[in-house]
Amino acid sequence: MRQFVAIFMLCLSLVQSSVTGIVAQTNLGGNLYLVNRTYRLTEHYVPKDLVKPQVKTISGETLMRQEAASALELLFQSAREQGYTLVAVSGFRSYATQRIIYNRKITNSGKRMAELYVAPAGASEHQLGLAMDIGRRSGSGLNGSFGKTKEGQWVAENAHRFGFIIRYKEDWTQITGYAYEPWHIRYVGVEHATAIYQLDIPLETYIEELSKTTYGGLLSHASQPQD
Ligand code: DAL
Ligand code: ZN
Repeated sequence: MRQFVAIFMLCLSLVQSSVTGIVAQTNLGGNLYLVNRTYRLTEHYVPKDLVKPQVKTISGETLMRQEAASALELLFQSAREQGYTLVAVSGFRSYATQRIIYNRKITNSGKRMAELYVAPAGASEHQLGLAMDIGRRSGSGLNGSFGKTKEGQWVAENAHRFGFIIRYKEDWTQITGYAYEPWHIRYVGVEHATAIYQLDIPLETYIEELSKTTYGGLLSHASQPQD
């Protein structure tokens, strides 16, 4: 039922956007960038509005784009109000930094593990400045057990209210290419995050569906008789 309502809302918003003109139709939304092994960033891409969110951190590498940073502050504050202390671990990573992390993972854990847990340079959404790896204050690093903790479960159920999605869920490895990463949250904005949470689908699938409907709408609009 929840999925049906979400699909209905998605279709409704697409119908609404189809009457607002071609520019709106071609824009899938301000933060809906898809970065993965197929769609990569160049080594020169660095977002212009990186800031340091005012949250607890256990590293110095926690820059995010401004809108995402403000949303992260609200997410952490809300968690705190429920008695859960979250810490930021890793935010923006440059192309060069990502390459170092990827190569280090290959050296330490082998190529197969590296491919399951670390994106190659250019293929990481950390380079977008819209992703943050998070943990618990007393946590034991970034691992799957975060998803079983009270903090991890609260994040999984509430992150969308602040515009974040759990990007790499357990059953999505075939589609995302990555193992379960309950600690990696990705900012897409509240509207899309809520739809993705309710539909319970990976960002790849969501964007594919949205593109089909949007560009399908554009084509049928273009083929309308002009007189
Ligand atoms: N851990 C994710 C896949 C990244 O490296 O971007
Ligand atoms: Zn991450």
